[in-house]
Formats: sequence, structure tokens, C-alpha cells
Amino acid sequence: MSQISQNNKLLHIRSNILAIDDDPLVRKYVESVLKPIVSNVFLSENGLQGIEMLEKMFDDIDVVIVDLMMPVMDGFEFVKHVRKRFPGQKPYIIVLTSKGEEDTIAQCFELGANDFLTKPISGKLLQIYVKKALSIANSIDPGLLLEIPLRLLGTRDKYTLFHSENVKMYTSVLTKILLTKSEEGEFSQELPISSQKNIIELETAALVHDVGKIAVPDFIWQKPGRFTPEERNLMKLHTTYGAVALERLLNKYRNHLLKLCYEATRWHHERWDGKGYPDGLKEREIPITARIIAIADVFDALTTKRIYRDEYTPEEAIEIMKNEEVGHFDPEIFQIFLEHERLFASIAKSRLTSQLKEIEQTN
Ligand SMILES: [Fe+2]
Ligand SMILES: [Fe+2]
Repeated sequence: MSQISQNNKLLHIRSNILAIDDDPLVRKYVESVLKPIVSNVFLSENGLQGIEMLEKMFDDIDVVIVDLMMPVMDGFEFVKHVRKRFPGQKPYIIVLTSKGEEDTIAQCFELGANDFLTKPISGKLLQIYVKKALSIANSIDPGLLLEIPLRLLGTRDKYTLFHSENVKMYTSVLTKILLTKSEEGEFSQELPISSQKNIIELETAALVHDVGKIAVPDFIWQKPGRFTPEERNLMKLHTTYGAVALERLLNKYRNHLLKLCYEATRWHHERWDGKGYPDGLKEREIPITARIIAIADVFDALTTKRIYRDEYTPEEAIEIMKNEEVGHFDPEIFQIFLEHERLFASIAKSRLTSQLKEIEQTN
């Protein structure tokens, strides 16, 4: 395949619709209205058949249009089952209601439907609704866009890419533990994270925490010996470089994900005792996002080989963090990290072995 046709294939926006209705006339009508504007229309007679279809080709179905009253499995059961079986925002679900009663519509939204259309269906409205649904279903998660500079940085420096991925993993695990503790009343702090969506946002923030490294000259990161004071100051600038770039975006699009990314990039080198950088914040002046990521960051930095030193084993790294990093971390969060040190050590061992192999293969 030529490069151009390959690119065209990548850029092609697919649009597959699944329409579920027990009335053959409705199925036929929906198919005839949508065929001119989408790639494919698949048809099912009831919820159960629809589920079977999704099981086979979940990734390929963008929008589902589902009737509510059907034999075998009705629309309510179908929506409930889909949202449980396939967590996430896809597929976009439009329910068809006969009367458009408020209670019925509210129930559908509560179960996870995205939109509704009343019967008899207007062909024009159906096309408008489906076009809107497709643009939402195929929209790119802003978190993915934030990853682009990081992937570019990774082409220059594989260690930084792995470091970011590892920090994301440790942050995610630590946050989930903190959430459980918080629900059980053991962890006293209020987490800004309560849902799966928030955890994904925090993971993205952890992933991009070092993105400002792009603006710091290569010779700094590749220097095998100790930094001069000037070089150290240059290195420290990666926090503010990243934050300034994100601040511009944040001012423009007041967005929760961007806020977490800003906190992570700017303050992940702050210390609980106020001796960190760039702002010398202390204790709870440091946002909790950065306090969690700081632990993940140091743990990964110590357990991976650096140009100026060999890696420590996870157990050695944890000992160093306990003894030498006094005053560095939020004591309450660090205590919880220590309670699960064996878990973090085993995650580190399995990840680092495979990453080392990958680095050896590319060298
Ligand atoms: Fe950093
Ligand atoms: Fe880092």
C-alpha cells in the first residue's frame, strides 16, 4: 500500500451505526435515512441481539439507536447492560421513545443513554442527531493530545518516556489506594478525585509532569557528572517551562484536566518542608496532585538507571526514601505508600525488566 493511501486510510472517519427495533418498518426506515450519510447501518431486532452484535464488533460501533419497548430484552435493560459491560463513553446511545415522557427520558439518561428521539421519527432530525453523535463519539480525548509532546520527547530519550509512564502507573495505583482509604474513613484528606474519569485525568497529569524537559537543552540531561549551580538551575526550569505552556491553555479553556496537568508540571518538585522548587510551597499549599506524583516520581527516579548512576533495587529505593528523603513527602500519603511497599516493589520489578529489554533491543 502506498504511503498516501495508507495515510488516507488513517484519516478516514468511520461511521458505523447499530439500530435496534422490533418493528421491521422502523428498522428499514432508519436504514434508508442513515445510509446516505454513514459508512454502515447494522440492524438488530431486540436488545439481546444488539448486545451480541456489540460483543462481536464493539470497537467498530460508534452510535447505537435503540427502541425502548421490545420483546426479549427492552431498551432500558440494553442500555444498562452496555454501560456495565463496556465502561467508557462509547458507543453513543440514542433511545427512541414513543411518547417522550419526562420520567422515561430521565431514567434512560440515568442508565447511561446520551440522547433521545421521539417516535414517529423525523428523518431530518434523525440525520442531525446522528451527525452530532458521530462528532462526539469520534472526538479525540484532550488527554491524548497532551501526550503528543511527550511522545516526541520519547523519541529523543526513551528513559524519559518510560519514566513518565512509570510515574503514571505508580500515581494511579497510589491514588486508588488513597481513594479506598478515604472511603473507609482512614485517610483524612479530601481527594479531588472521585470518579473513574478523574482518575484518568490524574494519570494524564502524572504522564505529562516532566513535559517541560523539551525546553531544556539536551546536554543537561545527558551530562554524566554532577551539575554546576548554573546547570542545576537550568534543569529546575523544566517545571516552569511546562507550567507556562499549560497556563496559556488553562487561561483559554478553564478545564479540570488542564488544571491537574498544570499542578503536576509546576509543583512535582516541591517538598513538604518547603525546600523544593520552583515556588518553595510547603505542606498543604502544594496541591494534592503534586504531592502524590512527587512520591511516584522519586520512586521511579531511584529505581531506574540514570546517566550518572546505576539503578537501585525497589527495596533499596524505598529505604533511601525513608531515610534520606525526610521532609520531602506528605507524611500521611507517604505512610500509605510504605504500607504497600511490596506492591510497589513488585510493580517496579516487572515493569523495569521489560523496559530494559526494550531499550537494549533499540540500542
Ligand atoms: Fe521533574
Ligand atoms: Fe519526573
